[in-house]
Amino acid sequence: MFLESFLLNLAVMAILIIALTLDYVTKFFSYWYVRHIPYKSSIPFFGGDYHRVLGIRSSTEDVNILYNKYPKDKYVGRLKSRIPDLIVKDPDTLKRMLSTDFAHFHSRGLCLDKSQDVCLRDNLFYADGEKWTLLREGYESLLSTMDCSLESLSDCLPGTNGDANVQETLVKVLDKVFEDLLLGNAGGSVIKELRSAIQRRSLTERFKSYLKDIFPSLYVMFGLVTIFGEPSNKTKNEIEQSKVLSQIKNMVNAFQSGGKDKKKKPHSDVEFAYSVIASFITEGYIPCLTALTALIYELALNPEVQEKSRNSVSVHNRDEYLDVAIKEALRLHPPYSIIARQCTKMNHPEGGFLIDRKVTINVPVMALHRDEENYVNANAFNPDRFLEDEGASKHCYAYLPFGAGPRKCIGEQLALKIIRNVSKAILNKYEIEPCAKTPSQLTMVDLNFGRIVDRDIWLRFKVRA
Ligand code: HEM
Repeated sequence: MFLESFLLNLAVMAILIIALTLDYVTKFFSYWYVRHIPYKSSIPFFGGDYHRVLGIRSSTEDVNILYNKYPKDKYVGRLKSRIPDLIVKDPDTLKRMLSTDFAHFHSRGLCLDKSQDVCLRDNLFYADGEKWTLLREGYESLLSTMDCSLESLSDCLPGTNGDANVQETLVKVLDKVFEDLLLGNAGGSVIKELRSAIQRRSLTERFKSYLKDIFPSLYVMFGLVTIFGEPSNKTKNEIEQSKVLSQIKNMVNAFQSGGKDKKKKPHSDVEFAYSVIASFITEGYIPCLTALTALIYELALNPEVQEKSRNSVSVHNRDEYLDVAIKEALRLHPPYSIIARQCTKMNHPEGGFLIDRKVTINVPVMALHRDEENYVNANAFNPDRFLEDEGASKHCYAYLPFGAGPRKCIGEQLALKIIRNVSKAILNKYEIEPCAKTPSQLTMVDLNFGRIVDRDIWLRFKVRA
């Protein structure tokens, strides 16, 4: 008798727990349906994110597929595990979210700003709230003193005549550019160390990167670090002698005097500087490397564009031809294919639907750039479209390689200067052609800290007379 009632109670409790859990994980399943937004169907625990969680599709692939599946709609919804997530296709709505209503969408919603990872803490990209405001001011003053000069860049280029690995050639120049920007004469091993660690693709690093992307709160909870914890003594010495340290000390002071959280133990100047230098590598070096690889590849495949870029001069007081070639490479192969935002204050746009707090927003940069509605013959590499008004997009929010609004890329001008100067040095020194090992398409993968070209690109570099 006792056993029977005990088993009955146990069964009732189990059913109750299962019902409550199911109710919790499926709470938002009809969220997009009731709002008349087309959406990806969901399954319990994974929501609509099962392709990404199971590693079948990358974030970019999933967003691109959903973008193209509903050609006439302005939005597509899905659930990320159980949180509503919106892909915004309409450039006017994007303008509102990124610029006009920025106060409602200032966060990236990545939950990583409390991480102990040296590449994430004190990194402007991941920061939120007051920390973001203070860091943004500090980065702005740091960047205002930086410049990338064309001199001596060609000395870093190898004199070899023949087939070469594009990424290997580019890192020789970019290592020098970032050493000059950040360290001056203090050596450069910290740049190489950080860059090669980010490029490292061991299984553990891949797993940590996956966790950071899919379950960021677990990544923070377990105190994981993607690359390395603390700087070595050699690195510390280099940073102590670096040219940016004095400015970074001012940033630390602003943090201590401006921050609300005064009780929190601040990092030492050198540790803080290490975080800032790491963010220049993750947010600056890596996208510049991706953009330059794409540009050099497209120039090799399009010899006429290459020749025009080499001889480029201002056309009708507009950009030099090389600049429009760079613009076009960033359109076709944007290093950031998606930009994320989170709604932090309920938003009700005119004529639109109510967007609740915590809903995450995806800006589908790559899909917008390759949409025939926005660009004629969108998949072709054609820099001329930026010389003709009718060829380029009708809406400036359909071209977002650097994002837009108060949180847009802070290094845009520096990045464009680096890409222009490095590509000028290459074009002055070499004629570039495809070779037997050149792939017919440039494919990219989302990995660790960004989007990178997924394999080595080989081209023929012929030294010019
Ligand atoms: C081709 C090169 C680059 C591309 C395509 C690129 C693109 C972007 C994009 C799309 C964002 C997000 C913008 C948004 O949320 O609206 C961003 C943010 C950022 N970028 Fe860049 N970037 C490049 C180079 C650089 C460089 C050289 C730096 C050097 C400092 C840099 C530093 C940053 C930082 C710190 C942020 C975070 C800004 C914030 O959250 O306030 N980027 N970048």
